[in-house]
Amino acid sequence: MKVVSVVGARPQFIKAAAVSRVMRRQHHEILVHTGQHYDENMSAVFFTELDIPLPDVNLGIGSGGHGAQTGAMLIRIEEVLLREQPDRVVVYGDTNSTMAGALAAVKCHIPVAHVEAGLRSFNRAMPEEINRVVTDHVADLLLCPSQTAVDNLAAEGVIQGVHLVGDVMADVLMLAAEHAPSHSDVLNRLGLTPHGYLLATVHRAENTDDPDRLRSILAAFLEIGEPIVFPVHPRTRKRIAELNISLDRPNLHVVEPVGYLDMVMLEQSARLIMTDSGGIQKEAYWLRVPCLTLRDETEWVETVALGWNHLVGANIQSILEAVASFMPPDEHPVLYGVGQATQRIVERM
Ligand code: UD1
Ligand code: UDP
Repeated sequence: MKVVSVVGARPQFIKAAAVSRVMRRQHHEILVHTGQHYDENMSAVFFTELDIPLPDVNLGIGSGGHGAQTGAMLIRIEEVLLREQPDRVVVYGDTNSTMAGALAAVKCHIPVAHVEAGLRSFNRAMPEEINRVVTDHVADLLLCPSQTAVDNLAAEGVIQGVHLVGDVMADVLMLAAEHAPSHSDVLNRLGLTPHGYLLATVHRAENTDDPDRLRSILAAFLEIGEPIVFPVHPRTRKRIAELNISLDRPNLHVVEPVGYLDMVMLEQSARLIMTDSGGIQKEAYWLRVPCLTLRDETEWVETVALGWNHLVGANIQSILEAVASFMPPDEHPVLYGVGQATQRIVERM
């Protein structure tokens, strides 16, 4: 079978790292990079470190408003699909690249597989929620990481082609967690002691584009006395500069986005993670690191229900209190599969 896979943003490179390798044993894959993420440390580093096949096509679309970015992707992906005439298109997650890939494909009558289908925050103000709903309703193969995702789809009347396969990010993480200690020197570079620091990331529009929320989150970081490593997404770096906020504190390590092995090393050695990232909430759970989610809701509800993830929003007091007192339970049941998602996905193509 000839398959076009569409990726464009950091978490999609990581998901494709698992799927592309296995898919290429059985199918002819053409990897299309929309160019949504383009900085070396947001894109190329993952292809190199994770040995992802180089994109066959890079559309170079880059940053822009939702309409301009998604529209340009639709036009250019359609051109690729008309030229290549694949049997299937595969899209990952919930970015503008995901929705553009799915829409371009169905308009050309090409079946769409959605990896990470069925997630919902039930917050339609999130661009990702719109991308998820649209993609799930045009895909014919819906590959879900959790029973909750399957149930969410059923509640919207989507039942055909739905499969519970587990999460491909777990597959990538298991390998990386083994390799990271011998391949990453990030703790030495930053002068960190294992379990003697917190790790923080912030990039969601709801936090970065709301000055009050961003100020409040950063004020909490400045108030925490423990060492904090904060790899800053370019979107967030721009907003911090616009708001003229100084993050100059000896205990606050403000660094550029890091490669995946450094990230996994930072995650697994952290005392606690504070994040608004979807992927990092799951990675925290799998690595048994307590997680405070800087959002008011999450798609990964199981991590919260099990007591390993706590929704603190952007309120400074809630963040500070949770940093001081949050303690997950001893129980840590398996969540989102254990390393078979990739195989199951490829079997269902
Ligand atoms: C996107 C996804 C989000 C995902 C995130 C992963 C959408 C709507 N959002 O958000 O779901 O969680 O990726 O990281 O698709 N920029 C750079 N260099 C880059 C990439 C981005 O400078 O390589 C800056 C640009 O100023 C750009 C801004 O970051 O305008 C936002 O980038 P964009 O890709 O639109 O959205 P993300 O916030 O990265
Ligand atoms: N990540 C990384 N370096 C960083 C920040 C994140 O390698 O500096 C990885 C992280 O470990 C996870 C993925 O990127 O695998 C999550 O991406 P992101 O937070 O950008 O997006 P989301 O998951 O929220 O869509």
